[in-house]
Amino acid sequence: MKPFQLPEDFLFGTATASVQIEGGDRNNNWYRFCEEGKTQDGSHCMVAADHWNRYEEDIHLMTELNQDTYRMSLEWSRIEPERGRFDEASLEHYREEITSLLAKNIRPLVTLHHFSNPIWFEDMGGWGNQDAVVWFDSYTRKVVSSLGDLVEDWVTINEPNVYMEGTYSSGNFPPNKPNFFNFFKGAKHMIGAHIRAYNAIHEIRKEKNHPGETKVGVAHHLRVFDTDEQRSGSKWAAGMMSHVFHDIFLEGMTYGKFLFPLGNGNYPYGKGTYCDFMGINYYSRDIVQYSWNPLRLFGELTVKEGAEMNDLGWEIYPEGLYRVCKSCYEKYPFPIYITENGICDSKDKQRGKFIYDHLKVIKQLIDDGVPVERYYHWSLIDNFEWELGLEPKFGIIEVDYDTQKRTIRESGQFYGDVSRSGGVTEEMLEKYPFLEAEHASES
Ligand code: FCB
Repeated sequence: MKPFQLPEDFLFGTATASVQIEGGDRNNNWYRFCEEGKTQDGSHCMVAADHWNRYEEDIHLMTELNQDTYRMSLEWSRIEPERGRFDEASLEHYREEITSLLAKNIRPLVTLHHFSNPIWFEDMGGWGNQDAVVWFDSYTRKVVSSLGDLVEDWVTINEPNVYMEGTYSSGNFPPNKPNFFNFFKGAKHMIGAHIRAYNAIHEIRKEKNHPGETKVGVAHHLRVFDTDEQRSGSKWAAGMMSHVFHDIFLEGMTYGKFLFPLGNGNYPYGKGTYCDFMGINYYSRDIVQYSWNPLRLFGELTVKEGAEMNDLGWEIYPEGLYRVCKSCYEKYPFPIYITENGICDSKDKQRGKFIYDHLKVIKQLIDDGVPVERYYHWSLIDNFEWELGLEPKFGIIEVDYDTQKRTIRESGQFYGDVSRSGGVTEEMLEKYPFLEAEHASES
């Protein structure tokens, strides 16, 4: 292993999402999902990491890890618990949290929608209802009017493709009603919602003369889809996957173009550029095998034989980060923020090296002319991993859910050092055993 440095102005951060860490909210669809006993491990998001009450402590931990930036999401169901009724106290709470971040020189990147919906919205058909676009617009306008003076950087929607897959294809997400047609309807509405939010954020911040440069993007989940060459049709299935899972969302949300089957290359919300940075969430790759199931988008996903995997059986494949960023940048030449990248590793045996390997790839991308400007590790603290419950551990900080005690994992100390030094130094290679082992074997 070798030392390396990232550019001086590169920003290091972590990412979280409201329902996954906050606790205390009964008005969102995941609360109801948990109440119905649907999480795989029987756990509940009602308390989670109690971040709502402990954000000061968590921000303090960020300063210990020398974080430049923090990606957080706002909980729509707190801000608008009933349709058209906004809760000023929740907005005030977020204002205080963001003010605390700024006071510590941590730059907030704020997500408006990260997988969770207000129950009223869900019960009116959620993203399958075309009014979703209008409802989301009114929520966005309220938020930006209230917090727009503090926040320059926005993610409108997190992983529209994973949301649609979970909600309407696998049906693992609430309301657990898979529906092939709603996948595409929902996709259209999310694209529309993004475009309107993009415009609203720019418009409101400009109108009010808020300081700083407004930056708005989407956090796209990009995967590598490789094929098992022996099977006929698999290549076609991988292409199909990539089209339905990546391209229709990227093209729609970046330029407003509705590709088949969303449209015929038309621009229902107007032709434009609705992107100031490309947010990329990268975790893993899949080996695609052809299947006849349209609900599974014609592909079964498998894992590369012999590959190293995390606790959830996802392949650890740092090269994939290179591949998705490079090909995305060739089509969409915007600065890239890695809005999520992380590993489920309860024993913290793989995470340190995982971080090293992925940051090294970023260094390579930058050297090759791909402007990656920020890295947000998923996640700051252990949290509620959606339908899987509290069991999976993604945090660089461990949370004991019985006591809510936080403990920085060794990989977290390492990430803090990386952020402090702007890269990996010789001393760090010596200090951290997970790097040193290979360091020694190389020399
Ligand atoms: C991403 C989600 C995030 C978290 C990680 C592990 O797909 O955006 O909320 O669950 O996976």
